[in-house]
Amino acid sequence: MSLKQQIDLAKLPKHVAIIMDGNGRWAKQRGKNRVFGHTNGVKAVRESAEACAELGVEYLTVYAFSTENWNRPQLEVTALMTLLMKTITAELKTLTKNDIRLGAIGDIDSLPKGVAKQLKEAIAATAHCKRMQLNLALSYSGKSEILNVAKILATKVQAGELKAGDINEEVFERQLFTAGMPDPELLIRTSGEHRLSNFLLWQLAYAEFYFTDVLWPDFDREELYKAIIDYQNRERRFGKTSEQLVP
Ligand code: FPP
Repeated sequence: MSLKQQIDLAKLPKHVAIIMDGNGRWAKQRGKNRVFGHTNGVKAVRESAEACAELGVEYLTVYAFSTENWNRPQLEVTALMTLLMKTITAELKTLTKNDIRLGAIGDIDSLPKGVAKQLKEAIAATAHCKRMQLNLALSYSGKSEILNVAKILATKVQAGELKAGDINEEVFERQLFTAGMPDPELLIRTSGEHRLSNFLLWQLAYAEFYFTDVLWPDFDREELYKAIIDYQNRERRFGKTSEQLVP
């Protein structure tokens, strides 16, 4: 049986999140510069998005650029932004053809003006697509996202629009970048690192984590299928005991 056939379509995660890691090491192994790794990482994004959409996953969120990534050498930051622009332009047709909606989470207005503008245009151009949403996490920080919600709610309380006692998880989640989306049930991180790196700190509270040594440019459909099969073999207890889960 192929890996794809082993997937139980009735038990798919609705939302998959990926920390794409290892582009630099992949390039170094080939005697090339880091940007070569990022360029080759684009294919893995495309394969993962197509595979998720084909299976019926509703949301895919990929960590493309963290707030901390601004501290990388200026040349690499500029190359990543250029690659992002090129990729959005090149993939817009494929996204529409595959009925995939583009989304973005993070401090989008901190991106170079041209990138932010193009990203917003691509989001608007695919807003009608229904099959899946592909979220790019750009200039994203989980701690900043949570802090920002705290500020919004504090301002509402101060203005008398909200009572402090009425703040609950639902009220809080309405102000997150991911408002209206289900939390990711599966988080994948490539390249053998076992860290969250400030990614979706609130939303991953109950996610299953899947780590693989595969470097991001080598991640393909088959690797995605392996992660989903592994996820489907886990028992998700949400704090309960195994016995309580028996129907
Ligand atoms: C991590 O590898 C990768 C990134 C910080 C950037 C990810 C970007 C892409 C895959 C390409 C563009 C994406 C889109 C959505 C157009 P690393 O550089 O940290 O690798 P290393 O840990 O081996 O140094």
